This record gives sequence, structure tokens and C-alpha cells, in this order.
Amino acid sequence: MSIRGFPRELLDRPPEERLAYFKDYALAHPLLRTAYSALMHVIREPAGASLISVCGPTGVGKTTLLRRVQKELIVQALPDLEKNRGRIPVVCVEAIAPDSGNFNWKDYYIRALEAFNEPLINKKADVALRTASYSGEGKHIPTRSRVTTDELRRALEQALRHRRPDAFIIDEAQHLTKMASGRRLQDQLDSIKSLANLSGILHVLVGTYELLAFRELSGQLSRRKVDIHFPRYRAEYKEDIQAFINVLHTFEHHLPLQEKPNLVQNWEYCYERSIGSVGVLKDWLTRALVSALEEGASTLSLTHLKQHALSISQCEKMATEALEGEAKLKEDDEANGKLLRILGMAEIVSKTGNAGTANSNKQKAAASKRKSNRVGERKPERDPVGVKDHAG
Ligand SMILES: Nc1ncnc2c1ncn2[C@@H]1O[C@H](COP(=O)(O)OP(=O)(O)OP(=O)(O)O)[C@@H](O)[C@H]1O
Ligand SMILES: [Mg+2]
Repeated sequence: MSIRGFPRELLDRPPEERLAYFKDYALAHPLLRTAYSALMHVIREPAGASLISVCGPTGVGKTTLLRRVQKELIVQALPDLEKNRGRIPVVCVEAIAPDSGNFNWKDYYIRALEAFNEPLINKKADVALRTASYSGEGKHIPTRSRVTTDELRRALEQALRHRRPDAFIIDEAQHLTKMASGRRLQDQLDSIKSLANLSGILHVLVGTYELLAFRELSGQLSRRKVDIHFPRYRAEYKEDIQAFINVLHTFEHHLPLQEKPNLVQNWEYCYERSIGSVGVLKDWLTRALVSALEEGASTLSLTHLKQHALSISQCEKMATEALEGEAKLKEDDEANGKLLRILGMAEIVSKTGNAGTANSNKQKAAASKRKSNRVGERKPERDPVGVKDHAG
């Protein structure tokens, strides 16, 4: 595999510039590409879906994925924006962890409106927000206490209708699952779903495996929801190990140091302390690079790696959470087998191999694409990667 690597003239640049280069460097590794294609596919062709949920372990690169999607949607919308200046191609908001145990909807609506950067709030949503005074450059929406959550919600609905983004993305959406007793999980998702339905704008929920709590909700709701899994590389699969080693190999070439570090040689250690998540690995390498640059070292050594590795207990916690999420997804697959048996289709499907309809087809396509990347052989029982249509 020939890799171009960092521009050699960087070696003459100050450490801050070298560090900035590595921090900005983004690698299109196979699992990121698969999740990206799956997400873009549903955004282009929602086919009745109003919600997409993208879940994966912490630090796998979910926010990185959605930044890529945002960028692409903006590029694609450019010709239309010339004609339609009011349109915003994509809007992204972060759901904030509640202080009190209860997700704060009022705060969410305000942040969502801010994400639209809305002068519109004054003009078109004036009715809903007549008690709100708007000032400044559109960054901040001061709201008087009299503005109710319902009014803010209506203002958001109008902003969605008028700005018509291709997708409204909620990062850290697992925080929506946080509520004290009194409000049901179903109500939380219903709030988002009805906003999506009333405005006709696809909502994308991105978060950790805690988002899986939404999967068990009613059929009516899940019929309009598409689930995408963005997993880590798993040591049980030869193909994943090879892909993870390829990631290390690529990072080696982009650490702007005199001598190429040998991460591949230490792949087991790199895997152990990143649990196979590329984002965790990248942040770790960044911390190690800071030390190497400060010391003026010619390369990044195992000592640098050890100095900055996450502790065993941190990794154990992340791995336990990841395993729990992966196990839940596996249960869903088993449930699919049960459904086929209820429908009397188990035998037919075992002959044709066409279980899971659109989902398995897309995944087969993704898997064969990954094979062409020479990342080894895929075990047939591998957990789902990529898109999964929820069929009621
Ligand atoms: N493919 C990639 N190439 C380079 N850097 C990456 C890649 N994916 C993630 N990173 C980096 O890894 C770090 C963690 O990634 P990111 O924030 O996207 O993960 P996440 O899944 O959103 O994590 P969290 O669950 O904590 O929100 C970031 O610094 C990001 O820039
Ligand atoms: Mg994130």
C-alpha cells in the first residue's frame, strides 16, 4: 500500500503547525465510509423515513461522520442556493446532557433555533416569538421567560419549513433518552418525530448505544425510523483486524516527525487501548504527538504511547458499553429470525438467503466493497454494519 503521507516541508515548520496538521488529518477508513454511504443514501432517498438514528460506541468517529455529511450536503446544495437564498442545506445541533436528570426541551429548542442562525425568528416566526426580542448578529436569541416551550417549538417548526434543510442533525442525541419519571421515553421520541413529520424535514439522531433505547418503541414510530450502526473494529474478525492495522499504517505516515513511528508493530497495544475505535486512537496519538514534539523527539516511541494511553479501567468501561450495545444489536438480528419463523418464512429465506430485505442487501454490497479493499475475509455471523431499515 503506497501512502503519500504528510508534506515533508512540514518538518521545517513550528511544532504547533505540525500538531495542527495531524489534528486536522481525517482518514476515510472502511467503517467510516460504510456508515457515510448508508447515511447519505437515506438522506437522498428517505423512502418514507422521517427519522434516522446513527449509533456507535463512544469515540468511534460519529461527530466526524456527521461533519463529512454536512460538508457534502452543503456542496451538493450549492447550485440550488444560488436560486434559493433562503435555504439552509443542513442544520446540526448538539443535545446537551441535562443537569437535573431531565432533558431540557426549552434549552434544546433555543439551541436548535440558534443553529439556524435565524434572523428568520424575527420575521416569519414573529407570531410564535412575539415576546422574544432578537438582537445582534443572529448568534444569540434572548428569550424572555414568558416565551413558552410550545412557542419555541412552533418557531422551530417554522424555521424548518422555511429553511428546508435536507437534514436536521442532532448530535449527542442519547441525551434525549434522559428523563425523570413522569415522561416516557416514547414521548421524548414522539416530540422529535412530530417535528419531523409536521415540517417534513428528515431528522438524524446521532449518539452512543444509549440511543438503542428508542428501538424498542412502538411499531408506528419505528416504521418511519431507519437505524444505522457505526461500529468499532472488532478483534474477533480477521477483516476488522486487518482494517485496523491499515488505519495504524496510514496514521504512521501522517505523524509529522522525522522518522516514521512503528505503530503497526504495536498493533495489539494500540487496539487494546483504543478498543478498536478510530477516534479514540486518533485522540491518543495526538496526545502522544504533543509530547514527542515538545521533546523534539525524532519519532513517536512506545514510551510516548504508554504515557498517554487511556487507563485499563477507562478502556474496560468503554469496552463494556460497546459490548452491551453490540449484544443488543445481535438480539435484534435474532428477533428477525423469530419474525421469519412466525411468518412461516424461515425455510424459504434459508434457501434464498434473502433475509432482512433492504438491510442485508445494502450490507452485502458494503461488505463486498470492503472485500475489494482487500481487508480479509468476513465472517458470515458478523454484526450488522451500516444501514438497517426498521420494519415495524
Ligand atoms: N476517520 C478519522 N480520521 C481522523 N481522525 C478522526 C477520525 N474519526 C475520528 N477522528 C478524531 O477522533 C476524535 C473523536 O472522534 P469523534 O468526536 O468524531 O467521535 P465520536 O464518536 O463523536 O465520540 P463521542 O461519542 O465522544 O461523541 C476527534 O478528535 C476526531 O477528530
Ligand atoms: Mg461525538
